[in-house]
Amino acid sequence: MWIGNSMLFNWLDRNLEKAASQPRLSQGKIFMVHSGAFYDVEKKLLEPGEMPATLHWFKWQNFTTWATGVSLMVVVYYLNGAAFLVDPSVRALTPTVAIAISVGALVVAWLAYDLAWRTLGARAPQVAAALSVALLCGAAWGFAQLFSGRAAYIEIGVIIGTVMTGNVWMVIVPSQRELVDATTAGREQDPTLSIRAKQRSVHNNYLTFPLLFIMLSNHFPSAYGHKLNWLILCVVMFGGAGVRHFMNARYLGAGVELPRARWLLPAAVSGVLGLGGLLALTRVETPRAEVGGPVGFARAQEIIVKRCASCHASAPTDDVFKVAPANVMFDTAAQIQAMAPRILERAVKTSTMPFVNKTQMSDHERAELGAWIAAGARLE
Ligand code: HEC
Repeated sequence: MWIGNSMLFNWLDRNLEKAASQPRLSQGKIFMVHSGAFYDVEKKLLEPGEMPATLHWFKWQNFTTWATGVSLMVVVYYLNGAAFLVDPSVRALTPTVAIAISVGALVVAWLAYDLAWRTLGARAPQVAAALSVALLCGAAWGFAQLFSGRAAYIEIGVIIGTVMTGNVWMVIVPSQRELVDATTAGREQDPTLSIRAKQRSVHNNYLTFPLLFIMLSNHFPSAYGHKLNWLILCVVMFGGAGVRHFMNARYLGAGVELPRARWLLPAAVSGVLGLGGLLALTRVETPRAEVGGPVGFARAQEIIVKRCASCHASAPTDDVFKVAPANVMFDTAAQIQAMAPRILERAVKTSTMPFVNKTQMSDHERAELGAWIAAGARLE
């Protein structure tokens, strides 16, 4: 709801039609067709006394997103002994310490960001921007040294979401309230508040796509499970913000059509470079261990029963996972064979299974599974 609203209002602003003889307070009009009728919308300021009885605000969409996200963070990452947060092969933190770092980082991140922009935002926005990007990538690197890869991604996502929510409630909504008060009282709006709010709303605009990627990142173990997962995250965040820039800039420049715009070539080049960089970074790694000869099914099954079946079975014995995660079970030969492509992805290429390597699978065993699958994952 929140990001959809943000997209819609940005789109409205970009497509407002400005008439030659426009009423004094009007900023443009737009006509739309949707849900069986026309919408005739005008963006404008109001004369004092024109304030309508009912004024719709758009702030609860943001609050709902943030509140549900943080609740999920607590349920998935903090409960159950922080099983998804802590990865002993990254750092053997106790659940309490890990949760304290995670919560503390949210507070520190907002304070640092807000301070940077309150002090430098008006005088040196470029410095504040460079500082914010450096802090964000630094944090991605830092969390990748502390938490499981997936949790490091989510932590950055919750930081971004918290910064955006802070922007809405501490800067943008107060500025809008001031606009309403000023209009009602028939005076000019305090320009510093509205300039600051505009700046923060531009930030939120550029952060939407990085945030969306992180929300989905759990589905990309090849990204969060990679040795350089923090760098991949930074590249994707840049790319996401770049796509947003593309969308923002598309109709600027008085009707310049898409293919003639001057920024198109640089955008295409950086897109290709970014994509190429990502492909190079996530290039499939060859197993680190050598396997002596061919690996048969009996050996593959032996490894899987030893390293995977404590979770992935009809009756798991793991202390946290009482139901087979993702409904993946390795009870029968047919189940193992059917899952061979995913076993290759999670246990051989990315090492994101066993979960936080809880069952201590060795590189040699990973290589053996890889050899069995490479030879056709046959049942003999
Ligand atoms: C300690 C418990 C645990 C162990 C041991 C474990 N897994 Fe998982 N597995 C999970 C959890 C939790 C999920 C769901 C979250 C995810 O996909 O990362 C999962 C999901 C999966 C999936 C489904 C998602 C997908 O990407 O297709 C596969 C396949 C998988 N595991 C394979 C394995 C293999 C192979 C092993 C052994 C080498 C293994 N797992 C060992 C906990 C475990």
